[in-house]
Amino acid sequence: MQERQCVQAAWASSSHEQEVAGMQVGFIGTGSMGTILIESLLKAGVLAPRHITAANRTARKAEQLAERYPGMRVAYSNAEAAEGNDIVFLCIKPHEFRTVLKEIKRTVNDRQIVVSITSPVTIGSLESWLPAKIAKVIPSITNYMLSGALLCMYGERLSPADIAGLERLLSAIGRPVQVNERFTRVSSDISSCGPAFFSFLLQKFIDAAAVETGIPRAEAERLACEMLRGTGTLLTEGGLSPEDVQYRVAVPGGITAKGLKLMEESVGDLFHRLIGITHAKYYDEMERAASSLDSSSD
Ligand SMILES: NC(=O)c1ccc[n+]([C@@H]2O[C@H](COP(=O)([O-])OP(=O)(O)OC[C@H]3O[C@@H](n4cnc5c(N)ncnc54)[C@H](OP(=O)(O)O)[C@@H]3O)[C@@H](O)[C@H]2O)c1
Repeated sequence: MQERQCVQAAWASSSHEQEVAGMQVGFIGTGSMGTILIESLLKAGVLAPRHITAANRTARKAEQLAERYPGMRVAYSNAEAAEGNDIVFLCIKPHEFRTVLKEIKRTVNDRQIVVSITSPVTIGSLESWLPAKIAKVIPSITNYMLSGALLCMYGERLSPADIAGLERLLSAIGRPVQVNERFTRVSSDISSCGPAFFSFLLQKFIDAAAVETGIPRAEAERLACEMLRGTGTLLTEGGLSPEDVQYRVAVPGGITAKGLKLMEESVGDLFHRLIGITHAKYYDEMERAASSLDSSSD
């Protein structure tokens, strides 16, 4: 709630100097990720509420967003959310695509950019359904803090100017990074699932610290979060690689070196298996998405 108020305050105080001139943006799906994208773009000041139209299956969710950000329009059909907007974000799950595509395919045109944020639905499949320019952009929860990457993949219908315009919008909330669609899953594992995976490891570290030493959990958590923020800055702005950080901290034979040795022995092939599991689920979802989107004729 407090976070929400921060977003609203940031939006209200923004001069909107960075608004992407005149761009109108539609959102279909205002669940977790749709809401994060809308709120981040508002917080960054790159869009104002009057630039946004949102639709959601349960309309009340979109209405609540519009109540928080006066000026935002609620659309009561997906076709209405798509109509006339320069960019339309599809923030829905893979199995929901067929329904939505059927509803918008006669509304969108070849001047619009339709952006899917869903990894298993391919650009080719969307191009077979819609005349629009198709992009796939995989966001991350880190974009809520206007940081982290946005994985960008573009269909051939987008011109360099389309890509530049879209990336100008996206760069307000993170770093657009173009990736090969072939690496969608592993890139998403790192960029979008990574915050959850590394928060899990951090939580285990904090829990162990509290249990093993009696340090108040809140204190351990504060230290751990600051540590992660500082390490992130070293790795992104400080010019250090993960190996450099370990080398700089671990004196041979010292305490950190002992800890790293234990970690090396214990982690084993954990991350290989992790990538195996995410990809197995991904291929399954891809297959199901492909067969559900197989024919665009009805
Ligand atoms: N969560 C992440 O960190 C993350 C990161 C990158 C990409 N993604 C991708 O983003 C997509 C959405 O994920 P999410 O976490 O935002 O899921 P979510 O919270 O379940 O949101 C999906 C939203 O779509 C709405 N919806 C479903 N069918 C619809 C329809 N026919 N018309 C209009 N709206 C419809 C749902 O409405 P109801 O309220 O009626 O259920 C719900 O609000 C997924 O494909 C996911 O892989 C997620």
